[in-house]
Amino acid sequence: MKTQKAIGVALIGTGRVAKALCERIDRLQRQGTLAHLVLCGIANSRGQWRVPGGTWSEALSEAENWPRRTGDRARIPETRPEWELVIDASDADSVAALHPEWLAAGLAVVTANKRGLGGEVGRAARILALWRRGAGYGASATVGAGLGAVERLVRMQAQGEQVLSIEGVLSGTLAFVLERVSEGQDLAGAVAEAQALGLAEPDPVEDLSGRDAARKLRILARVAGFAESGESVRIDPQLAWPEGVAWPDAVGEVAARLGCRLAARPSPRARLAAVARAEPDGLSFALEWLHPLDPLAQRQGPENVILIRSERYREFPMVLRGPGAGPELTAMALIDDLLASLERCAGGRAGDLGQRVFALA
Ligand SMILES: NC(=O)c1ccc[n+]([C@@H]2O[C@H](COP(=O)([O-])OP(=O)(O)OC[C@H]3O[C@@H](n4cnc5c(N)ncnc54)[C@H](OP(=O)(O)O)[C@@H]3O)[C@@H](O)[C@H]2O)c1
Repeated sequence: MKTQKAIGVALIGTGRVAKALCERIDRLQRQGTLAHLVLCGIANSRGQWRVPGGTWSEALSEAENWPRRTGDRARIPETRPEWELVIDASDADSVAALHPEWLAAGLAVVTANKRGLGGEVGRAARILALWRRGAGYGASATVGAGLGAVERLVRMQAQGEQVLSIEGVLSGTLAFVLERVSEGQDLAGAVAEAQALGLAEPDPVEDLSGRDAARKLRILARVAGFAESGESVRIDPQLAWPEGVAWPDAVGEVAARLGCRLAARPSPRARLAAVARAEPDGLSFALEWLHPLDPLAQRQGPENVILIRSERYREFPMVLRGPGAGPELTAMALIDDLLASLERCAGGRAGDLGQRVFALA
């Protein structure tokens, strides 16, 4: 039997997504798959550890017990020579800032953290440039979990297909919260329910203010090759979260604004949605009343809907729909990218998806 070369993996972030990922990898390894994937480093905002062996979940529990201090979030992991593949399951800007550095050093990066491609414009440009030159970057988990929007856009580029616009309900959390509030639940209660389901970002203001959805929109627009995909997403002022105010201090103010919008319902069946749009003249994220038959309104609970219009999907857009968040689905999307990276490390494919794709772009 052919033995596969061991691949040293570092896991950054030990929260909900990381936990679901470790449990799934342990399960796969017990079944005899991915045995050559060796967790050799683990880090969170509190520290870093060279993993001596054992299961992934055991290493994660160990890291979860490290003491917590305030002001840890800017901590920068120290890259180790034994790392070949980094999984970023953190929400830290300081970690995303290392993505270009890791790629340039030949490491593969698989990320749920949107602050790489969806963050600062220069950082995203460097990641895209390295990806285009064949660096192994997996960002499926950053938008719509397992729906595959990022790969679909990358493949369209490979086919020379020009993307004309992208529209979507990209925040399952905000969609879920708007649905509950439309049904009469109070805002704080709806957010607590989303948090209990593992849907909300670590800081719910990221979801409610549209900042998280704006990052997802930037990722899609940048991958689709939109020229106007710099920093700025026009965010609906009705979603604006007062500067410097933490959750839940502005709940009353935001709930009052949402209440006004709900009171202006244009028809009994209209659905309020937070719609992200990437069009040639720019990116926007706004509250909109949708006709119930609008494809963007055809969703339930935490589902995302993404509509891609391109030269060949002009009249009838490509529609991707399904649950778009949650630790388990996000972990599955990370594993999709891990498998692609492993094939690449093993030389099983004629280069990485990004290399094949962007070479044609
Ligand atoms: N949950 C979802 O459904 C979902 C869906 C798609 C994408 N994502 C993305 O996946 C990532 C993780 O989400 P989550 O729900 O698992 O969040 P979480 O439970 O809050 O975990 C975040 C992890 O990031 C770690 N971290 C923060 N700053 C760090 C730093 N400077 N260095 C190293 N680690 C650091 C935290 O460390 P401590 O433990 O020390 O605080 C924590 O372990 C986020 O980027 C999120 O946007 C999540």
